[in-house]
Amino acid sequence: MKAMRIFLGMSALLVVAFVWGTSMTVAAPRASHRLAGTHSIPPHILPILDRACLDCHSAQTRWPWYNRLPLVSQAVQRDVKEGREHVDFSSWTPLHRVTANELQDICDAVSGGEMPPLSYRLVHPEARLSERDKTAVCEWAIQLQRPAE
Ligand code: HEC
Repeated sequence: MKAMRIFLGMSALLVVAFVWGTSMTVAAPRASHRLAGTHSIPPHILPILDRACLDCHSAQTRWPWYNRLPLVSQAVQRDVKEGREHVDFSSWTPLHRVTANELQDICDAVSGGEMPPLSYRLVHPEARLSERDKTAVCEWAIQLQRPAE
C-alpha cells in the first residue's frame, strides 16, 4: 500500500510539473519570430539557432518551467546572463558589425560540441545538433567572414 501511495504521489507531481511546464512554453513567443528581421541570419540557419542557442544568446529567452525552482533558477539565470555577454544574436541587426573572431568562435563552439552545453542538451533533446546542422552553421559563419565584394 505504501508503494502505491508513493507512486500516486509521484504521478501527481509529474502531472503538476507537466502542466506548469507546457503553460510556460505556450506563453513565451517563438524566438525566431522576433529575430527574423535580422539580415545576417539566413532562413536555413535561423531555425538551428532557435532550437539550440537563442534561449541563452538572445533577448528572447523562453524561460523553462524549472527556472521557478530555487537554486536551479540561479544557475539558469547565470547561464543566460553569461551567454548573452558572449554572443547576443538579438543585436545582429543589419547595422551590427560581427567580427571574424566572433564568427570563428561560433563555428568552433558548435563543431567542438561545447555549444549548446551538455546540461542544456540533456533537458532539451531538440537542441542536439546533427553533423549537417554543425556543417551548415560553420559554412555560414565562414562565408560571413569574407568581406563583401
Ligand atoms: C544553456 C545556455 C546556452 C546555450 C543553449 C548555448 N550557449 Fe553558448 N554560451 C553559454 C555560456 C554560459 C557561455 C559562456 C561561458 C562558456 O564559454 O562556457 C557561452 C559561450 C558561447 C560562446 C563563446 C565561447 C568562447 O570561446 O568565447 C559562443 C561562440 C557560443 N556560446 C555560441 C553558442 C551557439 C552557436 C549556441 C547554439 C548552437 C549556443 N552557444 C548555445 C550558454 C549557452
